[in-house]
Amino acid sequence: MSNSKILVSGATGTNGRALIDTLLSRDVPVRALVRNIDSARATLPGSIELMQGDLSAPDSLSAAFDGIDKAYVVTAVQPNTVALFRNFYDAARDAGVSHVVKFSGMGAEVDSPSEVIRQHATSDADLRASRLPYTILRPNSFHQNMLWQAGGIATTGKFYLPLGDAAQSTIDVRDIADISSTILTTDGHIGKTYDLTGPESLSFHDVARIIADVRGAPVEYVPITQEAAEHEMRDQGMPEWSAHSLAEIQALFATGQYAQVTEDSQRLLGRTPRSFRDFATDHKDAFMA
Ligand SMILES: NC(=O)c1ccc[n+]([C@@H]2O[C@H](COP(=O)([O-])OP(=O)(O)OC[C@H]3O[C@@H](n4cnc5c(N)ncnc54)[C@H](OP(=O)(O)O)[C@@H]3O)[C@@H](O)[C@H]2O)c1
Repeated sequence: MSNSKILVSGATGTNGRALIDTLLSRDVPVRALVRNIDSARATLPGSIELMQGDLSAPDSLSAAFDGIDKAYVVTAVQPNTVALFRNFYDAARDAGVSHVVKFSGMGAEVDSPSEVIRQHATSDADLRASRLPYTILRPNSFHQNMLWQAGGIATTGKFYLPLGDAAQSTIDVRDIADISSTILTTDGHIGKTYDLTGPESLSFHDVARIIADVRGAPVEYVPITQEAAEHEMRDQGMPEWSAHSLAEIQALFATGQYAQVTEDSQRLLGRTPRSFRDFATDHKDAFMA
């Protein structure tokens, strides 16, 4: 196992933060690339090194790579991610980094009907063409996305999503972090693309039943249209591009194309990935009235 310091970008986000916690639990030193040092210092563990950098400002990145051998990159869903990833790859190549682990999305194909998925396909292709040693992680949706619905479930016992009756093999962010940490600290992952799913495929009616079981009170999933979902997200203040992109990707999930259970997570974890019931049990309080 390698113990050199690992550069984590997207460190303040859901997956970057989970990866940092996992790396620290394995005594792997971490440098976090963050846009705002003060707010990052307030939330991230004190034992990690923080470096200011913005993926949209190429000149801000080179110092963060100084002395770094391996780097992980995830960024937010936003219109300019292709350029952000390119800037990261350029800085990694200039620094002579020996391994870049890139966070993508399941089904990343250039002809996807989802713009977010097409962005990932382009950024994945850019990384393959960069001649950097790489590993690409393509997870399905996260169990943790249901936390966005937790407030509504706690107060009304209902949640509304444009996912029809489709099933999805969602995965726990903690398992993605375990896998990412293993890939960054063990050999044999260069040039690989891993499709990461949970252990089973569930419809959101199944998800409602599991949360109801766990919290001991009824939960109803109410399917809505893509248009209604987009309208609701805009009403809640989400920027237009984000609301449209999210509704668009949910419409893709509603086709049932994201139900496949792959073997990569089980193999890389060396155990069964956490089920949705495991996740809901661990986050029971969030769903309680
Ligand atoms: N949600 C899902 O179910 C799902 C499934 C598969 C794949 N994905 C992919 O996962 C990614 C999102 O992961 P996440 O949920 O862990 O992200 P997240 O919680 O939204 O966090 C995004 C991180 O990126 C950082 N960031 C954004 N713009 C930056 C910039 N210009 N320079 C430096 N850092 C920047 C943010 O830093 P600040 O603190 O400075 O904002 C934050 O740390 C997306 O690419 C999405 O397509 C999501």
